[in-house]
Amino acid sequence: MQWTTLLTLALAAPSSALVRFHCSQLVTQRLDPLVNPGLIPSTHVHQIVGGDSFNATMDPKRDMPGESTCTTCQFSDDFSNYWTAVLYFRAQNGSYKRVPQLGNNQFRNANGGLTVYYMQDAIYTPEQKSKVTSFQPGFRMFIGDVLARTLAEAARFRQLTYTCLDTFVTRSPETISFPNRRCKEGIMTSLRFPTCWDGKNLDSPDHMAHMSYPETGTFESGGPCPSTHPVRTAQVMFEVVWDTKPFNNLDWPKDGSNPFVWSFGDATGYANHADYVFGWKDDSLQKILDTPCHFSTNCSESGAKMQSIDDMNKCSQTPVVDEDIDGWLQALPGGFQAQYAPTSA
Ligand SMILES: *[C@@H]1O[C@H](CO)[C@@H](O)[C@H](O)[C@H]1NC(C)=O
Ligand SMILES: *[C@@H]1O[C@H](CO)[C@@H](O)[C@H](O)[C@H]1NC(C)=O
Ligand SMILES: *[C@@H]1O[C@H](CO)[C@@H](O)[C@H](O)[C@H]1NC(C)=O
Repeated sequence: MQWTTLLTLALAAPSSALVRFHCSQLVTQRLDPLVNPGLIPSTHVHQIVGGDSFNATMDPKRDMPGESTCTTCQFSDDFSNYWTAVLYFRAQNGSYKRVPQLGNNQFRNANGGLTVYYMQDAIYTPEQKSKVTSFQPGFRMFIGDVLARTLAEAARFRQLTYTCLDTFVTRSPETISFPNRRCKEGIMTSLRFPTCWDGKNLDSPDHMAHMSYPETGTFESGGPCPSTHPVRTAQVMFEVVWDTKPFNNLDWPKDGSNPFVWSFGDATGYANHADYVFGWKDDSLQKILDTPCHFSTNCSESGAKMQSIDDMNKCSQTPVVDEDIDGWLQALPGGFQAQYAPTSA
């Protein structure tokens, strides 16, 4: 046997990490350094987690770990920022009220926020075998379409979904539009980013073109990356639990439509989208990915630095945008009203 074959086998043998961890809320406000850099306020309200160097402008050359004093994420070397839009409930009188987030299963004590996964294979067990490349400082990406209001417009994105939580651990079925019934324990959104990188660009004008889905098949089926985007990365996935429970007792639309609306007005759910700005310290993410740890339960045993949920909850930012996002509002912050699917001709 050739030495190179032996080396390949030796490197391939140990299994790799399936990373799943929570990040508490850092701040909820209208800022978006990826899509609206420098704009204060940005178009719509976001909920942001991660390092406290988050700001209206995030130059890719900035040293996010160096500029942060804390992070809301369980891995204390992760100063990345992860964010999504926020949900509002639209009452029958037309006013809106923000839906808060809850700490996900196993992280109930967290102050809202979201759960992040870095998956190497499409299974939830520790047997992750694929070798993936970490993202680099300055890397960022976006997934989804803020303007999508139909299934056809949402169809070019795989796996931006909703789960109606009958119990806190319901994980299927997943839908592409908002659930159309009262969900006993809340609504979970799952947002999965593409897994093939062009290997050159840290960003692109639409924040998506430097990433691609597999050429054939899917991440789940182990499909190969296209030659234009040959570098296989971990699948970044967010799970966000929205506490819709308190709204289940209020009046809902008589026509059976759902009363929830994204902060930019989408009442269909098709415009589900997510933002990611990489900010792990040095090579800490690659090191974790290369060790056989599972979820966040035993990653510290393989050398990863972790912090307690209490410490995550202590890290927060004061909003720089001074406006009411939490009262009963006549319009969504930024002036949006609910937009429904176009009526078919
Ligand atoms: C955000 O940027 C402004 C302007 O550069 C700066 O004054 C402020 O301290 C920054 N905020 C944080 C939380 O880093
Ligand atoms: C609209 O309805 C909500 C929910 O019932 C209520 O709390 C709110 O006060 C109402 N707002 C107005 C302006 O009537
Ligand atoms: C962590 O737990 C998983 C699953 O129980 C196991 O396969 C793995 O070897 C463990 N890793 C460490 C570093 O203990």
